Amino acid sequence: MINNFLKTSDFSRDELEELIETALQFKSGKIAHKPLAGKSVALVFFNPSLRTRASMQVGIYELGGNAVILEPGNSSWTLEHREGVVMDGDKTEHLKEFVRVLERYVSVIGVRTFANLKNWEEERLEPILSAFEKYASKPIINLESAMHHPCQAMADMLTIREKFGRKKKKVLLTWAWHPKPLPMAVPNSFALASAQMGHDLRIAHPKGFELDGELLAEVETQAKENGGTVELTNKIDEAFEDMEVVYAKSWGSYHHYGNANQDLRERQIYRDKWIVDEAKMARTSDAIFMHCLPVRRNVIVTDAVIDSANSVIFDEAENRLHVQKAIMAKIIK
Ligand code: CP
Repeated sequence: MINNFLKTSDFSRDELEELIETALQFKSGKIAHKPLAGKSVALVFFNPSLRTRASMQVGIYELGGNAVILEPGNSSWTLEHREGVVMDGDKTEHLKEFVRVLERYVSVIGVRTFANLKNWEEERLEPILSAFEKYASKPIINLESAMHHPCQAMADMLTIREKFGRKKKKVLLTWAWHPKPLPMAVPNSFALASAQMGHDLRIAHPKGFELDGELLAEVETQAKENGGTVELTNKIDEAFEDMEVVYAKSWGSYHHYGNANQDLRERQIYRDKWIVDEAKMARTSDAIFMHCLPVRRNVIVTDAVIDSANSVIFDEAENRLHVQKAIMAKIIK
């Protein structure tokens, strides 16, 4: 069996708890073993990154391994992922060869492949990540795909654990206005992991900006199985009432997927209203503020909130390193 790490719901609550515990031990220096000694890990980036790329590269080094970074279309050949196509266009190499060549050199392959925001029905099925999974015989780590960003979600769960211990918390995932439609991987994975950890989750967004129905059904099931709850609301101000964790993220509407102009017209009325500011944070129960970064200041969140003592954005970013070391140590075993 290949130990892929593609989404948190492929793992049980106990396995996620074990990852958090291992990450805490890496962070405190209690464990310093080097399971990647003499091994290489490929990091394939179809899209830009600061945190994922730097934290993976450093994590691989700290585990004794070597990172091989590839950027299809930039530092490596453009890639075709569809089966059976006549490759007479702009794609130079097929993923089938790319993966099978790469795994002759490396022990693990990490992949970042965002949604293109063009075709909802196609992209929600993760065509590129699925092709990696199909052709690889070595473990694949999802470094953010169209639908999931499990490494970010695990760093977020670790951060909540550090701040509050094992108690379940009132967690708000709130949509925020942004000048262009963004993918849904981060909110999807945060909602899913929060439900798996048994938190009481509230998801706030304007009408028309719902998350994927199938994903929401999975979030509901996970919440029920793990002692949590899920509540959906379109009321931005009331959403903050009594919350202990506020997680801000913008995402595009799947109703207008592939039509950015229509999405932007729909969202324009939410500008300045769907922003995390001091007035909304004052309604919470002294909540911590979370965001995966990068973030547009004074668009998603005001300077006053992101620079406040309640903001834990740098802990989240640091925790990417520790949790990804725990993930790599687990799958290489
Ligand atoms: N949060 C996150 O994944 O950051 P990067 O896009 O910079 O990797």
